[in-house]
Amino acid sequence: MRTLVDTGSYGEYLHYGMPLTLVTVSDSAGRVNVSTNGSITPLPGQMPRLVVGILKDNYTNELIAASHEFVINVLTDEMRGVARLCGSHSGHDADKLALAGLTTLPARFVKPPLIAESPLNIECRVLHVQHLEDLDLWTARIMGIQVAEEWSDGRSGVDIERFRPLLYAFGQTMARGPMIGQGAI
Ligand SMILES: Cc1cc2nc3c(=O)[nH]c(=O)nc-3n(C[C@H](O)[C@H](O)[C@H](O)COP(=O)(O)O)c2cc1C
Repeated sequence: MRTLVDTGSYGEYLHYGMPLTLVTVSDSAGRVNVSTNGSITPLPGQMPRLVVGILKDNYTNELIAASHEFVINVLTDEMRGVARLCGSHSGHDADKLALAGLTTLPARFVKPPLIAESPLNIECRVLHVQHLEDLDLWTARIMGIQVAEEWSDGRSGVDIERFRPLLYAFGQTMARGPMIGQGAI
């Protein structure tokens, strides 16, 4: 027998193990906003792309609509407090960088900065937007990915053994488990 799963009021039970991230965006004066996001999907194909869903009421959405650039910063499994804070206050009325004690580093290809405390940063430029009733789906070209020493393999990749993302599944957070094999499958 199978049971129908409650999808949750915010669709939180639809998340079956996605990395939690911070999205950084800048306003026209260079002020930075940061918000928690669990709906990043990398896309297959020749051009490196991803898609992200942002709720229309969020300040992040307003800033992406104006600037067409953002950075995805992958959280470590020790950054639950940051995820909670940046996911429960709005940049409309709070400086979340200061509240969360986060610091920034310049990006290479876009204006919004990287979050220094996040070891993996994905610089994005918007290609396309699809407007849904309550959220916008932003498809973006990945302009560059930077990895900090703590997750780097020392060449040009991520050391999968050291990679410790904060995962979000069924409304809960968790750390990753052990590796079970090498290669894609
Ligand atoms: C675990 C978690 C996941 C979230 N995922 C998303 C998401 O995928 N898209 C989104 O728009 N908001 C998401 N949020 C909510 C935003 O982070 C929240 O509405 C935030 O206050 C928006 O800030 P802003 O107004 O500064 O953009 C998430 C929040 C949490 C706690």
